[in-house]
Amino acid sequence: MKSIVIAIVVIACTGSVPAMANPDLAHKKNCMACHAIGEKVIGPAYKDVAAKYAGQPDAPARLAQKVMKGGTGVWGVAVMPANPQVSEAEAKQLVHWILSLK
Ligand code: HEC
Repeated sequence: MKSIVIAIVVIACTGSVPAMANPDLAHKKNCMACHAIGEKVIGPAYKDVAAKYAGQPDAPARLAQKVMKGGTGVWGVAVMPANPQVSEAEAKQLVHWILSLK
């Protein structure tokens, strides 16, 4: 009985989760080297980013560009380097995930 339940749960999970969830993408693209969800590392905590841009309709597009090209001056003097390993679609996906954090 127990194994049947586990099998159903596994099927349900693998069926509904996209090939790569966004936290995995953030790890794979090295974002988490400088960022954490709940605390500042070198870059701002992703939750702080989400709070700062809440309710700003143009934020996702702007932030996706910034993720790709890098930049500085918004959160302090630290610089985010350009992330050429991230495509525009991936940048949008990552920003969408970041802005959904609470
Ligand atoms: C080498 C360290 C480093 C890496 C790697 C890095 N970041 Fe950053 N990130 C920063 C710093 C520093 C800032 C703050 C820049 C500023 O103050 O303008 C920042 C800012 C941001 C912001 C907020 C931008 C703003 O204008 O408010 C987002 C969103 C972000 N990073 C996402 C990402 C994503 C997604 C990745 C992975 C593709 C990534 N970062 C990789 C250091 C990094």
